[in-house]
Parts: sequence; structure tokens; C-alpha cells
Amino acid sequence: MTDLAMRGRDVRLEGVSITYPNGFTAVQPTDLVVEAGEFFSILGPSGCGKTTILRTVSGFVEPTDGRVLIGGEDMKGIGPNARPTALIFQNLALFPLMPVWENVAFGLEARGVGKKARRQRAQELLELVALGDQGDKLPSELSGGQRQRVAIARALAVEPAVLLLDEPLSALDLKLRQHMRAELREIQKKTGVTFIYITHDQGEALTMSDRIAVMNNGVIEQVGTGDEIYSAPESAFAASFVGEVNALPGHVVATDGAMARIETASGQLVGRNPKSLEPGAQAILFVRPEQMVFGDPGNVFTADLKRRDLEGAFVTYEFLTPTGQSLTLHQTNTGTLAPMAQEARIGFAAQSAVILPEGPLARTGRELAAQ
Ligand SMILES: Nc1ncnc2c1ncn2[C@@H]1O[C@H](COP(=O)(O)OP(=O)(O)OP(=O)(O)O)[C@@H](O)[C@H]1O
Ligand SMILES: [Mg+2]
Repeated sequence: MTDLAMRGRDVRLEGVSITYPNGFTAVQPTDLVVEAGEFFSILGPSGCGKTTILRTVSGFVEPTDGRVLIGGEDMKGIGPNARPTALIFQNLALFPLMPVWENVAFGLEARGVGKKARRQRAQELLELVALGDQGDKLPSELSGGQRQRVAIARALAVEPAVLLLDEPLSALDLKLRQHMRAELREIQKKTGVTFIYITHDQGEALTMSDRIAVMNNGVIEQVGTGDEIYSAPESAFAASFVGEVNALPGHVVATDGAMARIETASGQLVGRNPKSLEPGAQAILFVRPEQMVFGDPGNVFTADLKRRDLEGAFVTYEFLTPTGQSLTLHQTNTGTLAPMAQEARIGFAAQSAVILPEGPLARTGRELAAQ
């Protein structure tokens, strides 16, 4: 067992819905394919049903409807221990009185692997997670990030085809979290195991994943690469949850090929119409702050500058239109900042905006902090 390559398998949800015994439906009928060897993230706010989906894949919860297939095999009636999955929780629990290497090898003893082989396998896995010289320590002698890596090594010891990670970094501080992102990605690549990674942190999802599912209220609203979701969101929620965005509500007044015109409180604006909305439809136009520019690129506002934040290489401008619409504009810092307390003309090109059906918006970090 010197080879670290393991065999990832694909995971399919076919019409899976999950209703808890109290009658609450946490996951609406869902079809989802996670490819073998993929780093796949499920991204969504607290309570949207992420852990419930993971419990169903791991076998702790049976779907109310539909089925789960792993490597093409229907998992119905197969318990958590018999599935080719391993699970890592947010609050991992290592055995405090066992040295690190025994923690890693724990699952192998039950499988009848002898002590010498266990020790050797644990050593290989500890090297994989860059803890090759820490095997004889106790968990209490390690840092939080090191302990988290021990938990990953332990989960990989049983050679799962699918590793399920439920917000495994959320207990770590920001610096460590960012460092561990790169490590997790590296470990996933080296082993080839399918990773299903749950997070409410868009930065984590965007930096690590091959693909992301954006989830809200028990519904997977969009599946795609980070780039696809950021530049071509398919729902109001996805547009506002992933990255910053300006949102202008209104109704569609005309369409022209792939474009639509929307009447908003700040006047008529033109953007892409990927959902083929018809005139009369209630809609929201979304445009990213970095797509906003000074001048008149087609859609234009006259607005007052309310705030100007210089963050080194970047500048963030906050504008307010006479109708009370706030607009954010991001620029790289060219050395000439727009003057404060002055009316400006700002706008965006029609191609850089997207018009989507009206729907709930994600609450921004600022709104949550103000609670
Ligand atoms: N055993 C249960 N019985 C009834 N409802 C439940 C049960 N477990 C979870 N729920 C509800 O199902 C919904 C989804 O829960 P879940 O734990 O899947 O959310 P989550 O997306 O993982 O959230 P978080 O990010 O906070 O962990 C929530 O509204 C929750 O209250
Ligand atoms: Mg959860």
C-alpha cells in the first residue's frame, strides 16, 4: 500500500427529496451528478439543506423520495459503514490519549490490518498531509490546522471513493483556513478521491472547487464552475450570494434577441436576457461592481459619491442615485481618485449586465453583521 492514488467514484442524486419526521422538507426534489475524482462544493447559507444532502450520501438519512447512486450502485438499504464514503465534520474528534499515527490508523485495525502495516500506512498518509514527523505526538500537542490534517489522513486511511467534508475548516482562524484550502486541494489531486465539500463561504468554494452547486432553501439553484456562476448567474440568489453585485429591480418592457430592456426606479436599462423573460415580467438587473465605469458606456446614471474606500491596489466607490438606488463601482487604483462630494456620471455596458427573474436575494455580509 505505498500508492496514494485511490479510486474516486461518481455520486448521483436522482429525484432525491428529504423530509424529516417532523414533516419539514429540507431538500426539494434534486438531480445532481458529481463526477468521479471531482472536487465538488455545495455552497449555501445556514439552514439551506447542505448537511442534509451529505447525510443522505453518507447513509445516515434515507431519502424520502428518489435514490442515491455511488459508482453506479444504488445505495438504498446500505448503511453508513458499508458505503464507500468517509465523513469529516466541522468539529472533528480525535482520540486524545492516542498518538497521532494511531488516530490515523484507527479504522484499519477493525479491518484486520496488522500493527506494522498500520504504522506504515499511517506514516504514508501523515506524509501526504505534511505531518510526517508528528506521528508520535498526542493530538493536544498539535495546532488546530495540524489536527484538522490528522482528521483528513484518518478519513483517507480507509481509502474511501468519496470523501464528504462538512465545513471542515470553519473552526480555524482565517489565515489557517486560507492555507488549508490549498492543502486540501493538493491532497484531493494527489489521491483522486471524489471530494464533496460543504461550505457557506464563497471564497472557499471558488478557490478550491472544480464545480460548485449553489443551494438555497432546499433547492440547488445552479451548478457550474466558479467562473460560470460568477459571470453567468442563473438566479437572483446565485447572483447575489456569489460575489458582490448591484441589483436593480423592475419589470421587462422590451426584448431584442438575447437582450432585454427593464424599467427600473433609475430609468430604463438594457442587459442580457438568458432566461428569455417576456415583457411584463418582474425582474432584477444585476451588474458586478467591477463592470461599472465612469462615463456613459450605454446604461448611465447621474449619482452622488457617498463613500470612497482605498484598499491598496483597489478602490471601491459607493454612489447614490437621486431615486435612492445605491451603486458600487470597483476600480484598480490608478493613482487618480474621483473627487468626493461630487455628482458623477457612471454606468455599464449592456453586455456586462444580466436580467433575471425576480427572486429572493442573498443577505450581504454587511446586513448580517448589522443584525
Ligand atoms: N433532524 C431534523 N429534523 C427536522 N428538521 C431538521 C433536522 N435536521 C435539520 N433540519 C432542518 O433542515 C434544514 C436544513 O438543515 P441542514 O442541517 O441541512 O442545513 P445546513 O445547510 O447544513 O446549515 P448550516 O450551514 O447551518 O450547517 C434546516 O431548516 C434545519 O432546521
Ligand atoms: Mg450544516
